[in-house]
Amino acid sequence: MNYIELELSLSSVDIYSDILQSDLCDIGFESFLDKKDGFFAYCQKEIFNQEDLDFLLNAFRENNPSVNVSYDIKEIEQQDWNMEWEKSYEAVLVDDFCYIRASFHPPIKNVEYNIEISPKMSFGTAHHPTTYQIIQLLRNEPLEGKDVMDMGTGTGVLAILCKLKGAMSVDAWDNDEWAYENAKENVMKNNVEVDVKLGDASGLSKSYDLFIANINRNILLQDMATYSKHLRIGGTLLLSGFYDNDVEILEKCANENNLHLVTHISKENWTALRFIKKQ
Ligand SMILES: C[S@@+](CC[C@H](N)C(=O)[O-])C[C@H]1O[C@@H](n2cnc3c(N)ncnc32)[C@H](O)[C@@H]1O
Repeated sequence: MNYIELELSLSSVDIYSDILQSDLCDIGFESFLDKKDGFFAYCQKEIFNQEDLDFLLNAFRENNPSVNVSYDIKEIEQQDWNMEWEKSYEAVLVDDFCYIRASFHPPIKNVEYNIEISPKMSFGTAHHPTTYQIIQLLRNEPLEGKDVMDMGTGTGVLAILCKLKGAMSVDAWDNDEWAYENAKENVMKNNVEVDVKLGDASGLSKSYDLFIANINRNILLQDMATYSKHLRIGGTLLLSGFYDNDVEILEKCANENNLHLVTHISKENWTALRFIKKQ
């Protein structure tokens, strides 16, 4: 499978990189690699649509006339992309709780969990504030004997952590085939029992004590009712993948689905929310 590499340069990176990356997710881009004046974004060749990209960038220019944005596109082989990623990949330490590393980083001591990830094309290395914050929230989540769903699992990092933390069963689903393969590989690397599947909310049949979804605003709004339906009373829903200014609309949608907001954390303008399902 070949990929489209979009190299995007901005006159002001600040929050604009995050805004564009979030918009690019909506048109099929799935991985991002920051550079000094912007970022690289990657999309499967079959999914890439030049008209969508033009539309998105024109809208961005209209809304942000003070920011210059230029781009370059090339087609690349998946293998080349993996090599680039792995060269620039750094391990991430989340507080003194969890260390997420690649095979070429040695594990560290004085941390509760070491997780080895082969990041490849999948989101979920904890470099991103959304993954990072869900890991922080998981630290205080009692998981012994609990059934967990990690929807939009990416590399599988959150699912792996849940199992290491003592969850009874962990399901990890993603609707992207490459993420699914990558999550399976990472589950094996970490020697844990996690049921990885290719799928989305439409395939849910079981109920869970903890439901995690770090996806994006629109999917979360669309699937919230289904997530809630498959969460036990008193169970926890952890959501991320959206900006601080999306909290209001997400909280409203959650309330309509019997979910009560109990924790709200934010990092670099990205938010993570913890809800409890009411009676
Ligand atoms: C932001 S990444 C999060 C990955 C990982 N859970 C983490 O926290 O780092 C979102 C993931 O959700 C997947 N995804 C997107 N839409 C989805 C949907 N409707 N159902 C399930 N997975 C979806 C993407 O393929 C991607 O791997």
